Amino acid sequence: MWRIFLILLVPEASFSRPRCGGTYTTARGIIQTPGFPNKFTVPIHCEWIIEAQHVSNRSSIIVYLTQLFVFEGLTFKEYQIYDKSYQLNGREIHAVTENNISRVSYLQTYQDYLVITLKLDAIESTHLRVLDHLLDVYGFNITYEISSSAPRTDRCTMFLCGYTGSCYDHYTRFSCECFPGYSGRWCSEGEKSLCAAHGSPACKNGATCT
Ligand SMILES: *[C@@H]1O[C@H](CO)[C@@H](O)[C@H](O)[C@H]1NC(C)=O
Ligand SMILES: *[C@@H]1O[C@H](CO)[C@@H](O)[C@H](O)[C@H]1NC(C)=O
Ligand SMILES: *[C@@H]1O[C@H](CO)[C@@H](O)[C@H](O)[C@H]1NC(C)=O
Repeated sequence: MWRIFLILLVPEASFSRPRCGGTYTTARGIIQTPGFPNKFTVPIHCEWIIEAQHVSNRSSIIVYLTQLFVFEGLTFKEYQIYDKSYQLNGREIHAVTENNISRVSYLQTYQDYLVITLKLDAIESTHLRVLDHLLDVYGFNITYEISSSAPRTDRCTMFLCGYTGSCYDHYTRFSCECFPGYSGRWCSEGEKSLCAAHGSPACKNGATCT
């Protein structure tokens, strides 16, 4: 009786819960919402901690907002010291909003810790559907780098890629990888990409962009 009960429970507990948050100590990495680009379960409360201490040649932590579709409940805080029992000099450096999501392409802190928090009760503000399912995504997939170099200048964002391509960080360079039918450095050539030129390529609530 008990044995059957356990067999049914264990796989569910250990495999179906996607990764949410964690501690990152390597010089670079990718931070993404569980199951990106798919929908995740809400309410959600994740905390990603980037810790620069173990990287020897460093002056700052830089986060590149390459694929970002969340415009609520996402904050970036720097700390001089951050652990469970003790936190020193915490300061919020960015909170993503509908107004600044397209304007900010990277964040930088000279402190040793950057803590990214996602706290949401509903999925609506994490979803973007563009041009009738050309792009249908939830959450974010962003990269970070701990180094002594200045922020790389060829960076992209989904906004800069016109939402007709995905912005990828290849670590030595960035690029917009255009969806079929779109081309150009910023994927601005192609059917309907004029919408990008008008500055509002994203269609909310199932509307089409004409
Ligand atoms: C640290 O990084 C800088 C800039 O990338 C480089 O010029 C310097 O040689 C590096 N120092 C060490 C000890 O690796
Ligand atoms: C984005 O807007 C929010 C709310 O106005 C603000 O708290 C945050 O600092 C802004 N981020 C930047 C980088 O300006
Ligand atoms: C997440 O971002 C990284 C770096 O830009 C990229 O290589 C990877 O393909 C992305 N993953 C998805 C599912 O888009």
